[in-house]
Amino acid sequence: MNKKMLITGASRGIGKAIALHFAKRGYELVLVSRSEEELKSVALQCKSLGTKAYYLLADFSDITKLKEVLEDIQKTFPSITNLVLNAGISTSLTFEDNTLENIQRELDINYIAPLTIIKEYIPTLKKAGGGNIICISSFGAIVPFPGNSSYAASKAALYSLCTSLKMELEPYNIHVGCVLPGSTKTEMTKEFHETPFVPFDDPSEIAQCVEDSINKKEAVVIPGILYNAAAFTYKLFPKPVDFLMTLAAKVVLPKLKK
Ligand SMILES: NC(=O)c1ccc[n+]([C@@H]2O[C@H](COP(=O)([O-])OP(=O)(O)OC[C@H]3O[C@@H](n4cnc5c(N)ncnc54)[C@H](OP(=O)(O)O)[C@@H]3O)[C@@H](O)[C@H]2O)c1
Repeated sequence: MNKKMLITGASRGIGKAIALHFAKRGYELVLVSRSEEELKSVALQCKSLGTKAYYLLADFSDITKLKEVLEDIQKTFPSITNLVLNAGISTSLTFEDNTLENIQRELDINYIAPLTIIKEYIPTLKKAGGGNIICISSFGAIVPFPGNSSYAASKAALYSLCTSLKMELEPYNIHVGCVLPGSTKTEMTKEFHETPFVPFDDPSEIAQCVEDSINKKEAVVIPGILYNAAAFTYKLFPKPVDFLMTLAAKVVLPKLKK
């Protein structure tokens, strides 16, 4: 396995933190998302850390075009063996206020796009003798929270894909890991940054989880003691946790977009 990595959603937030984290560790990076200026800036920051970094533009809501971009990536950078599938969106609307169009877009970007990339890359990784596929899902995939159900469903689909696929691909030396961030301080959550009692992780902590998954071959990585404790408690006592989450949502829900 080499030190060449594709990172989606690398223009800002968690993806940018992952790019900088692995640039410091000497990885050669291919960064993908839609925003040229931001990607260029992240690539420059990675280069200033002493590694090679390239960027490509792709809109993951168009799966046909995504396949074309993937063909280009595979031709131009044939030896990538590490995929970090991080790009994602959250509509942050109650189910009732959300539209079917929004939900379809969320499903395409959060689930169908990473699934497509994985499917296209499996033959390459097998030929290379192995690799790492790390998906950024969400804590919401395993512990419910009202007000973002379609997002949680798209992330649960990704989580479920990863945990099953891990078993299928292990014989080929391909590791599939899934990171489940809780609330993380990025543009995605900016409307909630001032909400009292909501603990926010720094994006760099999620980048460390990606490295942990790769190095320790962990199937599922949850950042931080708090979210790990919450996941454990939910498994044992789902009803009280549902009750607490519903109370917490009363603080957060009025801030949801209409
Ligand atoms: N922040 C949190 O609390 C949190 C919690 C759990 C999970 N996550 C997950 O972590 C990942 C990163 O989120 P973040 O917090 O860093 O959010 P963010 O700051 O909004 O960044 C999202 C990234 O995804 C890319 N992206 C969005 N739509 C895209 C599209 N149509 N095509 C291609 N790329 C697209 C964006 O790039 P462009 O705009 O340049 O395309 C950006 O680089 C997401 O999968 C998110 O669901 C976040």
